Amino acid sequence: MASIDGPLDYLINAVGILHDQTGQPERSVRRLDPEFFMHNIRVNTVPTLLLAKYGEPLLKGSERAVFATVSARVGSIGENRLGGWVSYRSSKAALNMALKTVSIEWRRTAPRTIVAALHPGTTATPLSQPYRSGVAADKLFSPRQSADHMLAVIDKLEPMDSGRFWSWDGSELPW
Ligand SMILES: NC(=O)c1ccc[n+]([C@@H]2O[C@H](COP(=O)([O-])OP(=O)(O)OC[C@H]3O[C@@H](n4cnc5c(N)ncnc54)[C@H](OP(=O)(O)O)[C@@H]3O)[C@@H](O)[C@H]2O)c1
Repeated sequence: MASIDGPLDYLINAVGILHDQTGQPERSVRRLDPEFFMHNIRVNTVPTLLLAKYGEPLLKGSERAVFATVSARVGSIGENRLGGWVSYRSSKAALNMALKTVSIEWRRTAPRTIVAALHPGTTATPLSQPYRSGVAADKLFSPRQSADHMLAVIDKLEPMDSGRFWSWDGSELPW
């Protein structure tokens, strides 16, 4: 197995699913498949906690480190007005709680590490491809644009900003 020597200045998780061969996002709770729900949790939520578990010693060695995961605005409980996509939304809401919880612990144990949940905006990738027909052209970003936006956001963060949820334009999102 590969090993990484620290210190790490950035540890960013961009893995995620909305749909794959195992299932599609649900229009209604009547479509809920517990296996697909658990698959969302396994891919969208758990890996960030494992990266926190094993990455903490490497991040701690840096003068300023960022631990971030690409979440999704639809994981915001406070902004949920449409419903639907219950497996994806729940896995991202759980991811957000995981990041917030880690940020509180690391205030004591890794105070120079800034923890962030990031919303990339709608991005032209295979993930969004079936669901973006209503998105205006100027609100659909290329993967490079989204990466640039998110890097610009995390580069401005200070330790006091740790444990918050940021949109691609630097505005803060409600949990
Ligand atoms: N695209 C959007 O509009 C949008 C909006 C909001 C949030 N997001 C979030 O942005 C993140 C990146 O999504 P994307 O748009 O870049 O989608 P994508 O093009 O489909 O990329 C998804 C990535 O996740 C990896 N992945 C998926 N399942 C995996 C598994 N079981 N094990 C290991 N790796 C796995 C894929 O690896 P392989 O290439 O090896 O399959 C790929 O690198 C996700 O967390 C998504 O929820 C995207």
